[in-house]
Amino acid sequence: MRALILGGGGREHALAWKLKRDDPTLELLAAPGNPGIGELARCVAVSATDVGRVVELAAAERVDLVVVGPEAPLAAGVADALRARGIPTFGPSAAAAGIETSKRFAKEVMVAAGVPTARASHHTDVESARHAVAELGAPVVIKATGLAAGKGVVVCETVAEAHAAIDRMLRDGALGEAGSEVLVEEFMHGEELSLFAVTDGEHFLTMLPVQDHKRLFAGDAGPNTGGMGAYAPVAIGTASIVREAATRIIAPMLGALRERGCPFSGLLYAGLMLTDEGAKVVEFNCRFGDPETQAILPLMRSSLLDAFMAVASGNGLGAIRPFEWEPSFAVTTVLAARGYPESPVTGDTIALPEPDDRVIAFHAGTARKPDGSLVTAGGRVLAVTAVAASFDEAQRASADYAAGVEFQGKQYRADVGWRESARRARAT
Ligand code: AMP
Ligand code: GLY
Repeated sequence: MRALILGGGGREHALAWKLKRDDPTLELLAAPGNPGIGELARCVAVSATDVGRVVELAAAERVDLVVVGPEAPLAAGVADALRARGIPTFGPSAAAAGIETSKRFAKEVMVAAGVPTARASHHTDVESARHAVAELGAPVVIKATGLAAGKGVVVCETVAEAHAAIDRMLRDGALGEAGSEVLVEEFMHGEELSLFAVTDGEHFLTMLPVQDHKRLFAGDAGPNTGGMGAYAPVAIGTASIVREAATRIIAPMLGALRERGCPFSGLLYAGLMLTDEGAKVVEFNCRFGDPETQAILPLMRSSLLDAFMAVASGNGLGAIRPFEWEPSFAVTTVLAARGYPESPVTGDTIALPEPDDRVIAFHAGTARKPDGSLVTAGGRVLAVTAVAASFDEAQRASADYAAGVEFQGKQYRADVGWRESARRARAT
């Protein structure tokens, strides 16, 4: 059995690690991969978004499965092109990926499906956007409707901040095409939770709820990032929350997408806000979260490979049992390059301590120089997951390993899981 993973971040390293654990005889390829993935897979220097070359590679290597990591190749139609060549692929069509790539489409489907989410309206001119802000009042959220690499969402504490965000996107074109239309959205109070479901378009299996840390600095301060850490399980992600999300959010969403003629198969990521009125959707993504994946896959007992094959082959998930999880705790700490997220500096030499058996150092933005040395090569450099029998121990082991990693100007949060720690302290 031979599989190809598309992408080269920490999420893809975790996927590669899990698939090899599910089947140690699996032959893995990655495009483009990274030095960490290279220890598990043959990395091929093909960009994941170069659809033509990806299809050529998958066909030439006669792979039995392609797993698509990031959203960009999905938006570029890589899953459609692979399936058109008869290559079993885990990942949604470009049309279904619209739930992530177009916030307008996502809202339309959610409203049609009756899925609980924040009220929102769309605007292409400054005056009507300001009018909507006046109606909702502050706090309020301004979002670019297109893909803006995590920079398209501004949570505004005041009306003046909302006006400034609207001006930057609509008047000054600061985000280009992605910001030529904005959503003015009701602010939702609550705690966030990420819930993933593996789906064939109809059946789905939920994964362990996980919490991400989007802000750069400890205590959830500073700018938004792709994610600085994650942990699982989350005490507030109870079985009843998962059931509620499955019946009120995931099932109706999949149904509405089927009705529109763009069934979603692959990984549906529901970004939830746990409000006083129940779970509401902040956003959907069409792929695994990064770094959430690095936290949950080391806890997964069931075979992810079997689930991927069931979806990609077209057999469906009907015969796959609900996923089982280790009764342990995982805490993932991201190490980012200096300058991240605005303008990360690359090329700094990395020294990694020897991990103990609780720690896995997933590579994200790393590269190997010709002399064999490891250097930074992206905004998020590493994602360090520690798995332990207690939450505190996992948190300590993850932060300790992160503290021992050396590269110039490394940035990381030593407080990943702080909400969980606070909850545990209150409970005792
Ligand atoms: P998004 O890219 O839509 O996930 O937004 C990025 C982050 O902004 C989310 O993870 C939330 O922390 C915050 N956010 C987005 N929309 C809302 C909302 N309607 N209410 C409160 N916070 C939000
Ligand atoms: N960590 C958030 C995301 O993957 O979108």
